[in-house]
Order: sequence, then C-alpha cells, then structure tokens
Amino acid sequence: MYSHFQLAKKYLRYYCTASNGKGHGIHSPFVFTFITQVLNDKKKYACYENIEQIRKQLLRDDTIIEVEDFGAGSGKIKSIHRKVKAIAASSLKQPKYARLLFRVVQYYQPKLVLELGTSFGITTAYLASGNTAAQIYTCEGATQIAAIAKRNFEQLSIKNTSLITGDFAMTLPSLLQTTGLINFAFIDGNHRKAPTLQYFLQLMAHGNENTILVFDDIHWSAGMEEAWAEIQQHPAVTLTIDLFFIGIVCIDKGIKIKQHFTIKY
Ligand SMILES: C[S@@+](CC[C@H](N)C(=O)[O-])C[C@H]1O[C@@H](n2cnc3c(N)ncnc32)[C@H](O)[C@@H]1O
Repeated sequence: MYSHFQLAKKYLRYYCTASNGKGHGIHSPFVFTFITQVLNDKKKYACYENIEQIRKQLLRDDTIIEVEDFGAGSGKIKSIHRKVKAIAASSLKQPKYARLLFRVVQYYQPKLVLELGTSFGITTAYLASGNTAAQIYTCEGATQIAAIAKRNFEQLSIKNTSLITGDFAMTLPSLLQTTGLINFAFIDGNHRKAPTLQYFLQLMAHGNENTILVFDDIHWSAGMEEAWAEIQQHPAVTLTIDLFFIGIVCIDKGIKIKQHFTIKY
C-alpha cells in the first residue's frame, strides 16, 4: 500500500494530466456519452439522500463487531474487533463515486450486477437503486458486517439484492455458475494483485461485449497498479477509463483496437 504522501503525489499527477473530456483527445462515442450523460450528470436523485442517512447512522455507531480479515493474505483467517463507525469511515466508497456507480447502472441498465465486497451495503444500495429490475449479487466475507448490510437493505426497502457470505475464493466460482452472464461488476474487496487478476479472469469468462467491470483502488499500491496494467493489456479488453480511485473496463471480444483514457473526475 502506498503512503498518503505517495498517493497524494500520484493523485496530483493524475489531476494535472487527465482529460476533462472537453476539446480534443476523446475519439470514442462510448466515452463521449459516458462523460456527458453519466459522469457529468449533476441531478440529485431521490435515493442519494436516503442512502446517505444510513451512512450517517453507521458513522455514529459505536458498536464493536468481530471482523474476519480476508485481505491479510495468510492461509488462516484472522479476526479483529472494530467499531462500526471506524469501518464506515475507512471502507465505504465515498458518495461521489458510489453515486457515479448508481448512474452507470441507471444509464446502462445491466440486468445482472455483481459486487465483490459489500461491507455495510452502501454502494450495493446505490447499485440496486440504479436499476430496480436488475438482480444484484453482493459478496462479503465478514459475517457480522454482512448482517449489518442486510439490516440496511431492509431499512432502505431494497428488494433486488442477494447477499452471499464467505470468502470470494469459495463463493465467486459457484455464484458465477448459477448467474451465467454478468452485465456489470464492481470489484471492491481484497485489493491485492493476484486475487484481483483472478477475479478479473473469472468475470471475463462470464462477460460479453456489453459487460462493464469497475475496479476499485487501482492506484492504491504497486500491486494494484500492476494488476490494472495487466487488465488493460488483456487482449479482450478494448476500452478502459482511469478515474484514479476507480478504473472502468469494457470488453468487446470482436474489436481489436484498444483505447485507454484517463479522465478527470
Ligand atoms: C472496501 S470494503 C467494500 C465497500 C463497499 N463496496 C462500499 O463501498 O460500500 C471491502 C469488503 O470486502 C470484504 N472482503 C475482502 N476480501 C474478501 C474476501 N477474500 N472474501 C470475502 N470478503 C472479502 C471485506 O470484509 C470488506 O468488508
């Protein structure tokens, strides 16, 4: 994991060099529409306020829960005790990005959505609200965290979400066998190079030309940057959009020309 200073330097470089989507440089109809209709959509959707109320509750919650640490990389799963509010402050996608994911789902209307890393279900709630006709599968390893996510879905009356509890290594292969084609996936758990690439390949095997994959924290560590570079180079990946804190991947097995964009957000 990079230090705050290293990450800030990288972010500054991104901010100074990324395209703002205006003028020259964007020669992709997909990216043009993405910028104008999704990225720059400033409307305040009704679900934003309701979901953020839940985030506020979590940020005030002093309850101590037991959390299994799946990202530690050791064979044995370790548990630690943490306050709900501490997890809410450090693990959840910030409103700006969670709302962007809501708008991606709302605009492209994927029917089958997968999230790896539910945590308390904040981003899941945004995904589920983007298309209430979609089926959202969200995977979380920590049982007490998953229980809070379930409670939050009930509080928000979210009905189109199934929560799968367990290590991704165990749950993802069997889940993909039942779901078949994945239209949209948000990979936000276990931010290490090897598992990230493994999830990518597993998801690729269940994608088609309309599938969109979103990877979180692509510049978080040297390993994640290496994973992101490998994903970009994969022959089936035709278009990637780097928004620094998340990376968007489109696959089109029929197209041979690759395009990579870094866009300011
Ligand atoms: C960054 S949080 C997810 C945040 C959530 N997507 C949001 O924005 O609201 C990542 C979650 O993934 C879970 N996780 C990490 N590695 C995992 C693994 N190998 N199997 C299952 N869950 C895992 C962690 O327990 C954690 O709750």
